[in-house]
Amino acid sequence: RPPLRVALAGIGVVGGGVVRLLETNRDLIARRAGRPIEIVAVSARDRHKDRGIDLSPYRWEDDMGALVAADDVDVVVEMVGGADGPALTLARQTLAAGKALVTANKAMLAHHGLSLAQLAEEKDTPLKYEAAVAGGIPVIKAIREGASANAIARVYGILNGTCNYILTLMEREGASFADALTAAQAEGYAEADPSFDVDGIDAAHKLSILAALCFGTKLDIDTVATTGIRNLIAADIREAEALGHRVRLIGMAERDASGLYQKVQPCLVPADHPLAYVPGALNAVVAEGNFVGRLFFEGAGAGAGPTASAIVADIIDIARDEYGPAFAMPVEALDQAPAADAGAR
Ligand code: HSE
Repeated sequence: RPPLRVALAGIGVVGGGVVRLLETNRDLIARRAGRPIEIVAVSARDRHKDRGIDLSPYRWEDDMGALVAADDVDVVVEMVGGADGPALTLARQTLAAGKALVTANKAMLAHHGLSLAQLAEEKDTPLKYEAAVAGGIPVIKAIREGASANAIARVYGILNGTCNYILTLMEREGASFADALTAAQAEGYAEADPSFDVDGIDAAHKLSILAALCFGTKLDIDTVATTGIRNLIAADIREAEALGHRVRLIGMAERDASGLYQKVQPCLVPADHPLAYVPGALNAVVAEGNFVGRLFFEGAGAGAGPTASAIVADIIDIARDEYGPAFAMPVEALDQAPAADAGAR
């Protein structure tokens, strides 16, 4: 089969990881995909920035829109970030042109995922977003495909690596919140605006996407009650430990007869619970299906390699023509669940 031709928009930490992965595992990927996967064009804000990778084999486009317009591009990988602005424009242009879109952009999906999914359906083109939730953990695929026969009533977990890293450092080394945040930023896990991490917004974005997928409900970011970890101090961590608990930022969503409950908040996790053992910047997701039982996924939720792993897996699916509705069923079939009255729970 002819090569699948890919354009990359936004070459930061993750974009660099995608280039490296596609180069390093080229032959294995071609065998698995049934055809070669080739980067043909790239676009980013600053052409001259030193990214530590050689982009000279690829056509450079100053204008991201040119990636969509190009006849030799089948798939656009959006790694620009931001809920609106250039990322959203590019995503809409890509799908409207009937091209495949792979995105790592949880903020954009949380706010515009339904309209993008609808556009993808109208154009019968793939919208793939494995990297947007829990980075390298293939949780979207596992729920969308592996557990697709189940009714899922509950999904929860550690959805932000930066917060988990901060909490782990505060706990193990007695670091202050500010020092731990600086260390997380140095590792490259944090969002461009770290308040998205520490105020729970990033976890809320991911939770809303998971909830839609797990429950077959319309994405609803506006009703995720969100509290971050900014106000935690070392003494909170110590007190929790004295009570046999660890503090973790947990995103949890449930759906029952009263509606949809979505919440992100610091929780006391019993020290012997698997979620208490998720170290450093790792993420973990627990989903409870009515036939499969409890599923527990753990792995790297951020970083160049793991995020690239998820993005390239999506590209391989596209190369194989394996795709369907973004949220496992057509947007029209998703329920409009009312926000549950959290006070009544
Ligand atoms: N800032 C995010 C995190 C990156 O720390 O989990 C991955 O989405």
